[in-house]
Amino acid sequence: MSLQDWSLQFLAPFPMRRPRRLRRTPAIRAGVREVAVTLDDLVVPMFVREGISEPVEIPSLPGVSQHTLDSLIKEVERLLELGLHWFLLFGVPQSKDAQGSGAYDDKGIVQVASHALKDRFGSDMVLVCDLCLDEYTDTGHCGVLDSVGDVDNDATLKLYQRAAVAQAAAGADVVAPSGMMDGQVGAIRQALDEAGFKERAILAYSAKFASGLYGPFRDAVDVEIVGGGNRRSYQQDPANKREALLEVAMDLAEGADMVMVKPAIAYLDVLSAVAEISPVPVAAYQVSGEYSMVHAAAERGWIELEAVALEHLSAIKRAGADLIITYFAPWFAALKSQQRSSGG
Ligand code: PBG
Repeated sequence: MSLQDWSLQFLAPFPMRRPRRLRRTPAIRAGVREVAVTLDDLVVPMFVREGISEPVEIPSLPGVSQHTLDSLIKEVERLLELGLHWFLLFGVPQSKDAQGSGAYDDKGIVQVASHALKDRFGSDMVLVCDLCLDEYTDTGHCGVLDSVGDVDNDATLKLYQRAAVAQAAAGADVVAPSGMMDGQVGAIRQALDEAGFKERAILAYSAKFASGLYGPFRDAVDVEIVGGGNRRSYQQDPANKREALLEVAMDLAEGADMVMVKPAIAYLDVLSAVAEISPVPVAAYQVSGEYSMVHAAAERGWIELEAVALEHLSAIKRAGADLIITYFAPWFAALKSQQRSSGG
């Protein structure tokens, strides 16, 4: 039967067919709901900062802090108890340099924190390390520069390889290259395998767009791109969906274990197209600006935070994400635990 013949059966359904019958009560609605976000779907982004003695709140990311090593461990412990298991770790180093050496130094903050977390929590937690240079370079770019000041793709790959091995050695279960260099997944896979880390997975930020929605994140990691620069020569043009599928295909061929679309809400069409073709799990990153916009509007009383946050999470899942990286994860987990204890 063709799709057209099939839909003809439903012509002129009223008054026989009444979709509102299945919307009458909360219990009916719950039973026919097509997707439900669960704690297992969520990945918590976290920031650990070198050289601070107290956690530092990030004003543009309400409820999110730069952690000390101690407060990071306490917070992960609290979130594990709430039922969250996947964590995406970012580091904020005390000093930066042209080569972004903190990203691959064994004493770099993410490596030190990873060791501490895995010693403490073992396989109870899934530790994903963001793999990029931008937090560590004095230019704020995701790679090193060549002699004319452009980001040097292949020189950067060598440093990503070192970072991947350093992160795996420190205990990362998954490394997540976010720099959008060509060939990064293949280079990292090769380096991990050669170093004996065949079992560690790669979550590729495959389709990462040059988005205006990363603003609060750059506050969170204290990154400013030199000379008012931008990332448009390596991150994707927001207008391009076909190119996103090319990026995904290349990452799959290079050995990505999971692929990602980022940001999420503004790119649900891309996410849905990727989810349709991907033979591996698909992640979506609801980025800092997407989170902060909801908070800012809710603060003004213009929208209701709970309703919009849940709507966004459902929309991301409905579009096809298996994993959702979101700053709402701790809030969502607290909400679920509250609902459980009130029997709701
Ligand atoms: C780069 C990186 C960025 C984000 C995650 N990894 C920033 C960027 O590309 O400028 C953004 C995450 C967010 O906005 O929440 N290492």
